[in-house]
Amino acid sequence: MAQARGGGSRARSWTGGRGLPKVSHGSGAHVFDTTGKRYLDASGGPAVYCLGHGHPEVTAAIVRQLERIAHGYRYTFTSDPLEELRELITAACGRASRLDAIVFVSGGSEAVESALKVALQYHSARGEMTRRRFIARRRSWHGNTLGALAVSDFLDRRAPFEGALVEASFLPQVSMYRPPEGVAPEALGAHAAAELEAEIGRLGPERVAAFIFEPVVGAAGGALPPPPGYAARVREICSRHGVLLIADEVMCGSGRTGTWRALEQDGVVPDIMAVAKGLAGGYLPLGATLYSHEIAATLEVADGGPLTGHTFSAHTAACAAGVAVQRIVARDGLLERVRTAGARFQPALRAALARFEAVGDVRGRGFLIGVELVADRATRAPFPAERALAESIGQCAFEDGLICYAAGGNVDGTQGDIILLAPPFNASDAELEEIIRRFARAVERGLAVSAPGR
Ligand SMILES: Cc1ncc(COP(=O)(O)O)c(C=O)c1O
Repeated sequence: MAQARGGGSRARSWTGGRGLPKVSHGSGAHVFDTTGKRYLDASGGPAVYCLGHGHPEVTAAIVRQLERIAHGYRYTFTSDPLEELRELITAACGRASRLDAIVFVSGGSEAVESALKVALQYHSARGEMTRRRFIARRRSWHGNTLGALAVSDFLDRRAPFEGALVEASFLPQVSMYRPPEGVAPEALGAHAAAELEAEIGRLGPERVAAFIFEPVVGAAGGALPPPPGYAARVREICSRHGVLLIADEVMCGSGRTGTWRALEQDGVVPDIMAVAKGLAGGYLPLGATLYSHEIAATLEVADGGPLTGHTFSAHTAACAAGVAVQRIVARDGLLERVRTAGARFQPALRAALARFEAVGDVRGRGFLIGVELVADRATRAPFPAERALAESIGQCAFEDGLICYAAGGNVDGTQGDIILLAPPFNASDAELEEIIRRFARAVERGLAVSAPGR
């Protein structure tokens, strides 16, 4: 239920765990609470646990590192895990991408925060101090620190902090399921890219630091892949105007969509990229900000390096966890597994849900799948927010021992019901089939228990 309640834009303040079951242990795709109840983790928590739970090799690697030393402070020492992880990430991104500078952090918000700071520092280093403005998209989520929150658009997560957030420009959400009126889905990529160029023009390119976006929009959009051609056009526009392109791959990256970088499938290399979640698969907190060779050289000359990072940046045991996870992902061919199993999973899920009028769309890439619920399939009108349908389905799934990630507000900030499924990369075919079966059951029950007048 943590995800059913905690994932969305509604009712998401943390209660300190009151009313939740107590977690006991995990094994593969399963989690057990202290009463012995078993849960099939269909969403990897919040799209984190790419190897599932309790992987003995990852645990052993962490223990081995802890037995030597937990943390070698990065200003005093380098370490084998740090250097190896750097190598593994650079190789996974493809050396041609030249995303070979890395700041390690402890999670997604910190990774985004550092991405924003690297962008600002780069422009400062080049004497372009007017380039301070970030452009982002509505219905995107980049994190909970003040900087990351300033470019994020879960309305009620922002509301208490309005007035103190760095000013940012927000462009409309890009959804092939909900293209703007008069824009055909195949024209959406060009249309949305033109919105970015218009905003850069309105502000004046000399005032714009960066455009930040989620290549596949996660919880705030419901696994929305970019329209064909969109990312490439955005890349070209940013380059032409000296605006840095920041890809937030905290949720969609580290292999979740079937390639290590989600944007690889769009043939696009960003200037700066944030990763976290699947990097160490949740075994220890770890994130990273990657940026280009050219940015690194500029920061080096001006300031000696990036002016960002924290006490626990490049934490040795966390890096050891990252190395273990990434080695297993590569050794076991898990990106290929996500691509092939993902290509079967999505149509099978769509077929299993076809009988529900309320299921408007099933979409995503690889093992990042979104289900959008609608009151009317023809008009795509959302359910009233008060019905909290996604939460109901999430709750029914949870009671039935299935963990999925329910979120709301994707249509206009308040209305909209989506559920994310993000299975472990190494989930078996039988487990994937079980997810589909039990999820369909949860949709049926959630629709019934949330029906008006009940
Ligand atoms: C796309 C994206 N960016 C950033 C974040 C923030 O990451 P974290 O919660 O690890 O700070 C999230 C978290 O869900 C995310 O999905």
